[in-house]
This record gives sequence, structure tokens and C-alpha cells, in this order.
Amino acid sequence: MATKAFQEKVVLITGASSGIGRAAAKAYAAQGAHLVLAARRESHLQDAAREVEALGVRALPVRCDITREEDVTRLVQETERAFGGLDILVNNAGLGLYGPVEGFSETQLRQVFEINFFGLVRVTRAALPLLRKRAPGSQVVNVSSVLGHRGLPLLGGYGSSKAAVNLLTESLRAELAAEGISVLLVSPGLTETEFRDSRLNAEGWKQDAIPLNAMSSEAVANAMVRASRRKRRETVLTLPGRVMVLANRWMPSLFDRVARRVVNPARKP
Ligand SMILES: NC(=O)c1ccc[n+]([C@@H]2O[C@H](COP(=O)([O-])OP(=O)(O)OC[C@H]3O[C@@H](n4cnc5c(N)ncnc54)[C@H](OP(=O)(O)O)[C@@H]3O)[C@@H](O)[C@H]2O)c1
Repeated sequence: MATKAFQEKVVLITGASSGIGRAAAKAYAAQGAHLVLAARRESHLQDAAREVEALGVRALPVRCDITREEDVTRLVQETERAFGGLDILVNNAGLGLYGPVEGFSETQLRQVFEINFFGLVRVTRAALPLLRKRAPGSQVVNVSSVLGHRGLPLLGGYGSSKAAVNLLTESLRAELAAEGISVLLVSPGLTETEFRDSRLNAEGWKQDAIPLNAMSSEAVANAMVRASRRKRRETVLTLPGRVMVLANRWMPSLFDRVARRVVNPARKP
């Protein structure tokens, strides 16, 4: 029987109760990894744990709000008690924000940064001692977005929080390289999940359906596991997402014009 890529490894995923995080849990489990599943909705976590255990690995569901220091401390303590160390941390928990820069409130913007950026920093710092126990070879996988690489109208608040994640990822990658801890960035494009239902909207703003094909969370999860196996430093997903990141890199002013026309049929209802 072929050896699985992550046999007996321990993977902790934040935002494992739904969408990409839950699919990633199954994808790592299919490769033999044991899972620590973190999020706020306990019943969803229990369901996710059952799905993972059905693949023959161990699952530890931990209710954790990553904006709360005490929850994060407990998450790491429970992980250490159950598994002794950590091979892969997937920072996936996230929240969206829709509306113009003038429209969203400071409270909404802070809430989004509190989860997407500060939460990620908090979990990473807390988990580092456990990742060091399994170094060299352990990993941090940060989930960003194509919107963290290029600002689009009405998505600037969310995109900024992900752009901050991108830069932090680069710094952390350099800081941990000598210890043999890899730091990867995975930037999904539009993905079919609960994300658009749960995100915050500036008052009076709501996005119409997006005329683009969304990826499935399973396809994103498989790409993440592949990147993890190959220690690929950066993965940008969906064809439109890749085109956008590349076009912006080489022709930013042209892309400014395209962005104005193509992405701005959104209106205040
Ligand atoms: N869907 C897309 O089109 C898309 C595109 C690019 C990037 N992404 C990124 O992909 C990641 C996963 O999103 P998704 O699409 O899978 O959406 P999702 O289904 O809404 O998942 C978001 C996850 O984050 C968790 N979460 C939110 N706030 C949290 C907090 N304070 N503490 C702990 N967990 C928290 C949620 O769990 P609880 O509510 O149970 O806490 C949920 O499991 C996010 O980082 C998102 O920015 C998504």
C-alpha cells in the first residue's frame, strides 16, 4: 500500500467548521494526518470531526474564537496534550467585508482585521513552540485571497486585511527558514462556501451574484494539500484570479481601467 503524504502528522486548521477549512481537514485526513479542528460553532466542529474520523485518523474538535487570547491558549494546550506537537498550522478562519471605503464602519473594518489578521498572528505565535517541536519540516499555511494581491472596488476593506497577511507571511517565512519551518501562502479566488452569506456589508450595500465560476471548497483544499506536500511558497487559485494577479503585476494602470469597468456594476440597492 502506498504511504500517505501526511501519515501520522498533526494538522491544526482554524475555521474548520465550514467551507475551505472543513474540506481541507478531509483532504489532509485522506493523506493520513490527524486533525485539530478549531472554530466557534461546536456542533459543526463535531460533524467535521466525525467526517475526519471516518477516514481512519484522530480528530480533536476545539471551540475557539481566534479573537480571544484565552481561547487560543487553550487551543494550543489541548493540541499539545492530545498530540505532543504540531506539524502543520493552517490559518484559514476569515470574514469578508463588502462596500466602499466610505461606506463600511470602522467597527466593521476592525472586526475583519481582528479575525483575518490579528487572529492569524495570535494563533501563529501561540502555535510556534509546538511547530518547533516538529521542525525541521513543519509548516504554517496562511490562507489569503486573490483580493489580497490586487485591490478591487467595494472589496478594499477585506482585501487590505489579506494584503497584510501576505506581507506578514513573507516576513515570517524569512524568520523561520533557518529552523526548517516553511511558511506558505494559498490565495483562493471565488469559492463556493458560506463566506458571502456570513460576511459583513456596509450599510445599504449587498453584492449581486458574481458572474464568474466559483471553485469548490474541495478543489481549493486539494490544491492546498498539494502545495503543502511540495512546500510551494505561493499558490494563487482560479484562472481569473491568476490572470488578475499577473496582469496587475505587469500592467497595473491597464488593470485599473479594467477593474473600474468590469468589477463595478455593483451598486447601492
Ligand atoms: N469563499 C471565497 O470565495 C474565498 C475566496 C478567497 C479567500 N477565502 C478565504 O478562505 C478562508 C475560508 O473561508 P470560506 O470561504 O471557507 O468561508 P466560510 O465557510 O465562511 O468559513 C469561514 C470559517 O472561519 C471561521 N471563523 C470566522 N470567524 C472566526 C473566529 N473569530 N474564530 C474562529 N473561527 C472563525 C468560521 O467558523 P465559525 O463561524 O464556526 O467560527 C468558518 O469555519 C477565509 O480566510 C477567506 O477569507 C475565501
